Amino acid sequence: MTSLLRPLRKLYRSLLDSREELRLHRLSQPTPVLVDREELPLLLNVLNLRGEGVEIGVQRATFSSRLLDGWAGARLHSVDPWRTFDDPAYVDKANAAQEVQDAIYETARQRLARFGERSAIIRATSAEAAPRFADRSLDFVYIDAQHHYEAVCEDIALWHPKLKPGGILAGHDYLDGVVAGDLFGVKRAVDEFAAAAGLPVWVTLEKEYATWICRIP
Ligand SMILES: C[S@@+](CC[C@H](N)C(=O)[O-])C[C@H]1O[C@@H](n2cnc3c(N)ncnc32)[C@H](O)[C@@H]1O
Repeated sequence: MTSLLRPLRKLYRSLLDSREELRLHRLSQPTPVLVDREELPLLLNVLNLRGEGVEIGVQRATFSSRLLDGWAGARLHSVDPWRTFDDPAYVDKANAAQEVQDAIYETARQRLARFGERSAIIRATSAEAAPRFADRSLDFVYIDAQHHYEAVCEDIALWHPKLKPGGILAGHDYLDGVVAGDLFGVKRAVDEFAAAAGLPVWVTLEKEYATWICRIP
């Protein structure tokens, strides 16, 4: 039985190794191909972007913790006001009541505690937090806050100057329209920004709620 298991284990290990090699190959192309946003940390490592990064819109820190687990960078700043907004344009299930936001903040705080100094929580809006960062200081920014057109335009305008040359500006939910009761204008805002800046937009292969990525020259 043991003699049968050994070659099978070896085969399984070599299959895993080839899968990893293929993944690195995909991510190292001039136009990288990402299956989903879970591969973003690896792309950042491949591009040697290992300094400071920011996630805008954190909620329960599900993605902030994924980033910190997979990314070899020095520090992630997780920006979210955990606040309810009385804004008719912000039609989103994430716009929960204040007592719910306080509980979600506590979940995020606990989830990020294990990362120690590599994690910094900023309880503020995107517009309040942006002036705390110097221009050209960040390796990446991931935008996933309010998804209506005006908010995404504002977030891109606020955070784009904060990136180092070669840095990554990315975000969640590359789509437009009302989906599952939430209002999106992300695709339009990103496409307009990319066209004006003359940049290609790389999009993950997810059928729904894809991630968009631009590399700043
Ligand atoms: C879709 S959730 C984020 C999910 C998270 N990125 C993830 O994938 O785990 C959107 C979050 O954006 C936050 N948000 C709303 N307005 C914001 C603003 N002006 N600046 C920063 N965050 C904001 C909300 O409080 C909410 O937690």
